[in-house]
Amino acid sequence: MKLLRRGAEAELYETDFEGKPSLLKKRVSKSYRCKELDNEIRASRTGLESRLLGNARSLGVKTPQVYKLDKEDKEIVMELIPGERVKDVLNEKNFGNICKRIGQDIAKLHSYEIVHGDLTTSNILLHNEELFFIDFGLGSHSKKIEDKAVDLLVFKKTFEATHADLMPKGWEKIIEGYEVKMGQKGKDVVKHIERIEKRARYH
Ligand SMILES: Nc1ncnc2c1ncn2[C@@H]1O[C@H](COP(=O)(O)OP(=O)(O)OP(=O)(O)O)[C@@H](O)[C@H]1O
Ligand SMILES: [Mg+2]
Repeated sequence: MKLLRRGAEAELYETDFEGKPSLLKKRVSKSYRCKELDNEIRASRTGLESRLLGNARSLGVKTPQVYKLDKEDKEIVMELIPGERVKDVLNEKNFGNICKRIGQDIAKLHSYEIVHGDLTTSNILLHNEELFFIDFGLGSHSKKIEDKAVDLLVFKKTFEATHADLMPKGWEKIIEGYEVKMGQKGKDVVKHIERIEKRARYH
């Protein structure tokens, strides 16, 4: 197995599953957490990630197909997407189209009450002009507007930091896609983001 990347909480290996090019995501233990809690957290995030990858996929948001889940070893084997991270390819020329589609996909997730929990342009891959969402280990199911607004607000913060050159126009495209896809509910979430931002400014 070839180590592809070491993420904040996992090691990612390139491997093979029944002859298919695959990716193994292994959540490694964190020595600063007590052993029992650490085991519990890694097992639950691994299970959650696998479930949400499947849920998102079934409602038409592209994600890597999960081939194998092993909660004991805290591992998921999934389809390897041979693309690039949106973070590495987003630019002045392509941002309009990509950002709008990102917004539409987030709207699809939110319409089905799925909150991603860690939206960043390194957790969205681009392959053959298609977007794939990954890294659902901090996700949840929620009906609350607040949770959806926070999901977007966290994304906005990382987007501003990573793609300062595309602000505010890139973010505006994401919101445009989101509102178009989600209708009035989407507008309510966006209004709520503004309320949270105001609240933060006055504190
Ligand atoms: N199915 C996949 N196909 C191709 N590349 C992938 C796949 N899953 C993850 N990667 C690559 O590995 C990186 C880290 O994966 P992931 O975000 O799931 O782990 P993480 O530990 O949460 O990492 P980070 O802390 O960087 O978010 C991704 O940014 C991507 O480059
Ligand atoms: Mg990630």
